[in-house]
Amino acid sequence: PVIRREDYRAPDWLVPEVELAFDLDPARTIVRARLSVTRNGEHDRPLRLDGEELELLALRVDGEAREARFEDGRLVVDLPGSSAVIETDVAIAPEKNSQLMGLYASGGILCTQCEAEGFRRITYFADRPDVLSRYRVRLEADKARFPVLLANGNPIEQGDAADGRHFALWEDPFPKPCYLFALVAGDLQCNRDSFTTMSGREVELGIWVREADLSKTALAMQALKDSFAWDERTYGREYDLDRFNIVAVSDFNFGAMENKGLNIFNTRYVLADPETATDGDIDAVAAVVAHEYFHNWSGNRVTCRDWFQLSLKEGLTVFRDQGFSEDMGSAAVQRIDQVRTLRAAQFPEDAGPLAHPIRPDSYLEIANFYTATVYNKGAEVIRMMRTILGPEAYRKGTDLYFERHDGQAVTCEDFVRAMEDASGVDLKQFRLWYSQAGTPTVQARLEQDGEGTTLHLAQQVPPTPGQSDKQPMVIPLRVALIGAESGREVAAEQLVLLTEGEQTVDLGTVGEPAFLSINRGFSAPVLVDAVRKPGEIEALAAGDSDSFARFEAGQELMTRDMLAAIRNGGAVEVEAIVAAVGATLRSQSLDPAFKADAIALPGESLLIEKLDAADPARVHEVREEVRRAIGTRLGEDLQRAYTAASAADPTSLSGADKGLRRLRAATLALIAAGDAKLGASLGQQQYEAARTMTERQSALMVLAMLGTDASGKALDDFFTRFEDDPLVIDKWFAVQASVPDESNLHVVEALQQHPAFTLANPNRLRALAGSFAGTPSAFHRADGKGYDWLAEVIVAADKLNPQTAARFVAPLGRWRKIEPGRAARMRAALQRILAEPGLSKDVFELASKSLG
Ligand code: ARG
Ligand code: ZN
Repeated sequence: PVIRREDYRAPDWLVPEVELAFDLDPARTIVRARLSVTRNGEHDRPLRLDGEELELLALRVDGEAREARFEDGRLVVDLPGSSAVIETDVAIAPEKNSQLMGLYASGGILCTQCEAEGFRRITYFADRPDVLSRYRVRLEADKARFPVLLANGNPIEQGDAADGRHFALWEDPFPKPCYLFALVAGDLQCNRDSFTTMSGREVELGIWVREADLSKTALAMQALKDSFAWDERTYGREYDLDRFNIVAVSDFNFGAMENKGLNIFNTRYVLADPETATDGDIDAVAAVVAHEYFHNWSGNRVTCRDWFQLSLKEGLTVFRDQGFSEDMGSAAVQRIDQVRTLRAAQFPEDAGPLAHPIRPDSYLEIANFYTATVYNKGAEVIRMMRTILGPEAYRKGTDLYFERHDGQAVTCEDFVRAMEDASGVDLKQFRLWYSQAGTPTVQARLEQDGEGTTLHLAQQVPPTPGQSDKQPMVIPLRVALIGAESGREVAAEQLVLLTEGEQTVDLGTVGEPAFLSINRGFSAPVLVDAVRKPGEIEALAAGDSDSFARFEAGQELMTRDMLAAIRNGGAVEVEAIVAAVGATLRSQSLDPAFKADAIALPGESLLIEKLDAADPARVHEVREEVRRAIGTRLGEDLQRAYTAASAADPTSLSGADKGLRRLRAATLALIAAGDAKLGASLGQQQYEAARTMTERQSALMVLAMLGTDASGKALDDFFTRFEDDPLVIDKWFAVQASVPDESNLHVVEALQQHPAFTLANPNRLRALAGSFAGTPSAFHRADGKGYDWLAEVIVAADKLNPQTAARFVAPLGRWRKIEPGRAARMRAALQRILAEPGLSKDVFELASKSLG
C-alpha cells in the first residue's frame, strides 16, 4: 500500500516508558517488553503495534494474559481505560537475519539497525518516529562469547548471572523514537578517550572494535573530538550524556547510524590508517563520524514527525558535516567534491523516473527514500537559506529551532518557520524547494551597451513524475563580472535572487567588455545555461577569482567540446582543452588539490546525462580520445607535475600532502592514457614503492586499466598482502570491476565466483556490482549482457537483503538517456526483475517506477 504524506495522523496511543529485557543468543533471542501506554486524545480506537518476523510467546495486559489478535499484520489490543501496561515476550533469530534490519549477527557481534522501520523486527511496538519513549534496557548473554554489552544512554548496573552468563542494565534519560534504539553484544576492545564539554561535563568516549582493529581507530577518535568541539563552536550544541560510544561492524546496509549515545558504524567509516585506507577514505571517516555525532541534535533531540520529513534531519545534518569538513580542510576543494557528488548522484535522480522532492509526497518503502535528493539536495536547500539570510541570521534560526523544538518530533515546515521567525525574512516562495522535484535550469545572458550592463535571467523547472506544472523558485545566484581585458573583478560579487520566470538585473557600469561569473561557489543547485562570448569560458577557466567558478568553467569547456564531437561523429576539437589543462598544470599559484580537480575530465555518466539517446561506446571513445590527446600533447608537463607531486610526505595527512597525492594520481592516469608503456612502468614503480594506500591504489587502478602482465602480478600481490583485511579486499574487487572496457563483464563474472565474494556482505556486493554498474563503458555493452548480469544479481541479493539489492536498480532506470537498442535491453532487464516471484517491495517499487 502506498503511504501518503497528506494522510498523517497523530498517534492514537503514546508510549512514555519502555522496559526491555534481552536474553541474547544468536540462534534464539528472547525479548521481553513492558510498555506503559497512554491514550492520546479522545477516541475509542484500540492500540495497534507493528511487528515483523516475531514469534509471539506471551501477551499480558495489566498483568493478565491475553489472546493475541492481528489485523493487517499488526497486533491489536483493545483497551478500555486511558492507560495500560502491555507486556510481550517474543523470540527472534538474529543469526538468520540477512536483511540486516532489527537485531542481527555480524562476525560474531550481535548488533541492531532500526532506522527506519527495523524496531518492529525486535519487538511489537508503535514503530513511527513521533512516539517518543524513555528506555530502560537489560541485556543478558553468555559472558565468554559476549563480554561487552552496550545499549543507549548511561550504564546503571552490571553483574554475573547463572550458567556463565552476565548482564548489563542501561538507561537513556532522553525520550526517543524507537528508530534510535540500539544494542551491541560482542567480544570487543575499546579505544577510550574523553571530552570536556563547554559547560564542564566530562564525557567518556569509546570506539569499540575487534581487537585486531584497535590500532586503526585513532583517526576516528580524533574526528570525534573535533566534532564535539566544532558543534559547540559553530552551532552552540553541547553533548548531553556521560557516554558516547561508537561500534564498528562489517555487515551494514549503509554508512552508519546515529542511535542515541551508541552510534553503530560500517567498519568502512571507522577503521583507517594510511597503509590500508586512501586519503579519500580517511576524509570520509571524519565526515561520517561528524555526521552521526551532529545528529545528536539534528535528528535525536529534535526528531522527525514522520518519514516524509527525513530531509529535516538528513539535509540539515549533511549540511552540518559539510561545514565541518570545510573548516577542517580546504573549503574550496571540499565544495568541488560536494558538487561532484551532487551531480553524479542527485542530478540523475532529479532527471529520471525516480525524481522526488526533498520532502516526498508518497512511498511504498521508506528505505528507498534515503536518497541523494533527500540527503544532498536537502543540504543544498539548507545552504541556500544560509546564503539568503546570512550566517548570523541563519545561526539565530538554528538556535531558535533547537530551543523551540527540543524533545519534539517535527516537520520541515517547523524548520523553515524558525528561520523566518529568527530572521524576519519571508520564505514563502522558497518553500517550493521542499515540494518541487527536478533540477531547475537557469538561462543567463549578459548584455553590455555603452556603459550599462544588464544580466538577463530566466528559469525553467522541468516536469517530473506526478508534477507536470512547476512554479518559479527562489534561486540565489552569486554573480560577479570579470573584465575581458584586465582579467579583474570589474563588478564585485553580489547576491542576485532570481524569483520570477524571467528577470533582468542591472549590474551598473563597467569600463570594459566583461565575462559572466555566475552561480559562484555553486550557490544554487541548478543547471546554468549561459550565452558565452568567444573566449569567455576559456578566460574564466584560466582566471575566475572564485575557485569554484573557475573549476566550473573548465568543466564547461571540456563538456562543450566533448559533446560536440559525440554529436557530430567527428574528431574532437582538443585545442582548447589541451591549452586549459596545460595552463593549469604549469600554474605557479594554483594549489595541487585544485589542479587535480581541474584536470579531471567530466565522467562518462555526466556526459550521457546531457545527451538524448546516448551511445555509451561513442561517449567512451570521445572521452578516451581527449585523455589520449592530453597525455601525448602534455606529456612533459604531466611528468614534471607527477615528479613534483611525488615529493609528498607519505606519513603526513596535511591538506598540502593530500593535495600532492591527489595530483600525482590524476597525472599518472593521464600519462598512461598518452603512453601506455610509460604509464605501466611508472605505475609499477609507484605500486612497488608505495607506502600508503593512496599511492598503492591509484597505481593499481592504472595498471588494471592497462591490463598488462604487470597488472596481473600487482593484483595478485595486492590480494595476498591484504588477504586478512576485508575493507582492502573490497578495493581489490572494486578496482577490477571498474575497468572501463566493453569486455570487463568476464572479469566481473569471474570475480563473482571468487571464494572471497559473497552476496551477503553489502560492502562486498557494492564493491563488485556498484563499481561495475558505475562504469558506463563496461556496463552498457551493446549486447545488453551487462544489464542481464545486474538484473540477476539484484534478484539473488533481494532474497537475502532487499534494502541493499534495491540500491542497484537505478542504473537500469537510466534507459531514457540511452540509444533505443540498449534502452530496450535495459527495459527487458527491469521486466525480468519484475517477473520474479516473491520480489521485495523495495525492489518492486524502484523497478516498476524505473520502467515508467
Ligand atoms: N540515519 C542514518 C544516517 O544518515 C542512515 C539510516 C539509513 N537508513 C536506511 N533505511 N537506509 O546517518
Ligand atoms: Zn544522517
